Amino acid sequence: MAKNHVFAGLDVGGNEVKLVIIQQLDDKDDFQILSQNREVCSGIRRGVVINLQEVSDAIISCVKQAQEQSDKKVKSVYVNIDGSHIFLAASHGLVSVSRADQKISQEDINRVIHAAQTFSLPSNKEILDVFPKEFVVDGEKGIRDPLGMQGVRLEADVLAIGCLSPYSKNLTEAVLESGLQIDGVIVNPLASARAVLTDRERELGVAVLDIGSSTTGLAVFEEGNLIHAAILPLGSFNITKDIAILLRIDIDEAERIKVEFGSCVWRGSKKKEKIKSDFLSERLQVSKKNLIDIIEARVSEIFEQANKELKKVSRQGLLPSGVVLTGGGAKLPKIVELAKKEMKLPSRIGLPRDFVPPQEDSSLAAACGLALSGFDLEDVSSASGLGGIAAKIKKVFHPFIP
Ligand SMILES: Nc1ncnc2c1ncn2[C@@H]1O[C@H](COP(=O)(O)OP(=O)(O)OP(=O)(O)O)[C@@H](O)[C@H]1O
Ligand SMILES: [Mg+2]
Repeated sequence: MAKNHVFAGLDVGGNEVKLVIIQQLDDKDDFQILSQNREVCSGIRRGVVINLQEVSDAIISCVKQAQEQSDKKVKSVYVNIDGSHIFLAASHGLVSVSRADQKISQEDINRVIHAAQTFSLPSNKEILDVFPKEFVVDGEKGIRDPLGMQGVRLEADVLAIGCLSPYSKNLTEAVLESGLQIDGVIVNPLASARAVLTDRERELGVAVLDIGSSTTGLAVFEEGNLIHAAILPLGSFNITKDIAILLRIDIDEAERIKVEFGSCVWRGSKKKEKIKSDFLSERLQVSKKNLIDIIEARVSEIFEQANKELKKVSRQGLLPSGVVLTGGGAKLPKIVELAKKEMKLPSRIGLPRDFVPPQEDSSLAAACGLALSGFDLEDVSSASGLGGIAAKIKKVFHPFIP
């Protein structure tokens, strides 16, 4: 059983650093949020640390708030890594089954994954995680969990996910500098996926799109396995910048207009209708349609880039459980409608699942997913989010030790 049942997820985001502390409710699969704290931080650009001290200070502030709010002392966290330096690599491993009775043991599975993980990488790259796609036992393909099967030769096809080491070092430095320890580092859209997707969606085929401020994370699953992931270098702050430039207004005003009046689809009848608000000065005559056209263009571009990624794995328009939108950027009204049109897939908003009371803030998906991943990794028996076999392997091989 997981120790203390309390887990902390630290989302080092481009807009804010967010810290969530969760607790498993007794004997249930549900969780409660003990504290959620955020601090605006400009020390991250497009997913990577550009000012270590600012990030560290923001984390310290979140930890302080969390302790005041929940009475829990946060010592260590699961943290996300983001940025377009994240890469994927398919690999293959092969081992001989070790036991005399030729029954495949957990140790054999760990060894074959380890073998698949050992491929040559430039010195500035590192593997963060490894996801088994399938196992092959004595030539028989398509095996999901070979534990206990009879065989002589065990092979594994895996998808490894890695990053540029200098970026991961800066991130871990920023966290360690704040006085926290790191339990694990998880790629951002995988953390969000853990929080918002159902096992059934993952089984049928689904993409999660975490629309943040300066990045959009994509993770694609099928038959329970991760099949693709990518970090797109644009997010909802690009919309704010577009609004500021095209309407020639201050960036803070642009952000406010986006949040208060924004939408992804224009439905009005009066094309010249102006936005009326106290904070807009008289000189600013902003047409609602104009605003929505700007937003629609940029959000469509995000979906277009996501589509290009789906095309790389031949899943464009071909995921039965569609695309699940999360992150702060998914709060724009009518974004689901636009996603359906542009991505030609079913779509829904993804909120962190399994929380009591229900969690309604999509921008907390990554932080909640990080804390939930902590639960999976430390309590292998439940391992709901990753699938039993993946979690078992991750528990043994989860490679990040700062
Ligand atoms: N109600 C809202 N309507 C529209 N946009 C919103 C709303 N609330 C937040 N956003 C946008 O969501 C973005 C922040 O989302 P989020 O908190 O997921 O980003 P982040 O995780 O800090 O950034 P990143 O993932 O890029 O590192 C901001 O650009 C903000 O304008
Ligand atoms: Mg984010």
